Amino acid sequence: MKVLVIMGSPRKGNTYHATERIREIIQETVPVEWEYVMLKDAHLEDCRGCYQCFERGEEYCSLKDDSSLLEQKMKEADGVVFATPVYGFQVSYLMKLFIDRHGYVFHRPRFFRQKALLLTTAGAVGSDDVLKYLNLVARIWGFEVAARVGIRTHATFGPLPPYVIQENEKKLQKAADAFLAALQTGTRSRPGLFDVLAFHIGRAPSGELGDLAPADHQYWTDQGWLEKKRRYYVDVPVNPLYHAIGVLVEWFMRRRIRRDLKAVS
Ligand SMILES: Cc1cc2nc3c(=O)[nH]c(=O)nc-3n(C[C@H](O)[C@H](O)[C@H](O)COP(=O)(O)O)c2cc1C
Repeated sequence: MKVLVIMGSPRKGNTYHATERIREIIQETVPVEWEYVMLKDAHLEDCRGCYQCFERGEEYCSLKDDSSLLEQKMKEADGVVFATPVYGFQVSYLMKLFIDRHGYVFHRPRFFRQKALLLTTAGAVGSDDVLKYLNLVARIWGFEVAARVGIRTHATFGPLPPYVIQENEKKLQKAADAFLAALQTGTRSRPGLFDVLAFHIGRAPSGELGDLAPADHQYWTDQGWLEKKRRYYVDVPVNPLYHAIGVLVEWFMRRRIRRDLKAVS
């Protein structure tokens, strides 16, 4: 079993130590190959916003850095931990750069086999928003999010009270258990409403834009996702109500895209 950690802290501090605790708990039960990608040491160039990856494909990106290597590492892993401190109520700049350098994955999702654990540390506030954001990213990219955990960490003015240390330990234990259970199951669980909507909302432009978004259109066609009978990216049971809502939302989106295209033609 292989776990990759995408570490968004620029130091081996609170977030690293919390991730290490998760590793210890999991490795008490099973042997796990555990690899850290310290984003501060990775070579990631700033996204230039040229849209080549969206329109033509990620292979047309002019930047030569570690972004495809990191994608490959995530593909080879069974589980990915996205770990970041809260910086100004958001993910750290390193994590945001990592996400932007893989922006094309929002259009062409690919991590359906992998489970994710989302981890944040914060001195006081912001964990919930950051976890919400990471959850959105990971799920649109295709991950099954098995656990989310936000812990309170040492502020600069002194040690943590013992009850916070205990609370943190409980939270990390719970998250590690859920992550391990998902890793051991191996199978994909049923998609929630959010996941089904992500599929239909992604399918509307990929289906309607055709040559205007060739990379997306080709990718969605190759995966068989544009076939009408398709209910989700992968073959898992989909709640019929979620499916119906997804179909309706897709219908509205397609209608709006067609109307917009007509208005500018
Ligand atoms: C630039 C910066 C911005 C921060 N912003 C927040 C914040 O918005 N909310 C918060 O609760 N803590 C904030 N913190 C505190 C860190 O989230 C917290 O100390 C975290 O555990 C640091 O993780 P690390 O030791 O892995 O770097 C900030 C820290 C830094 C350096």
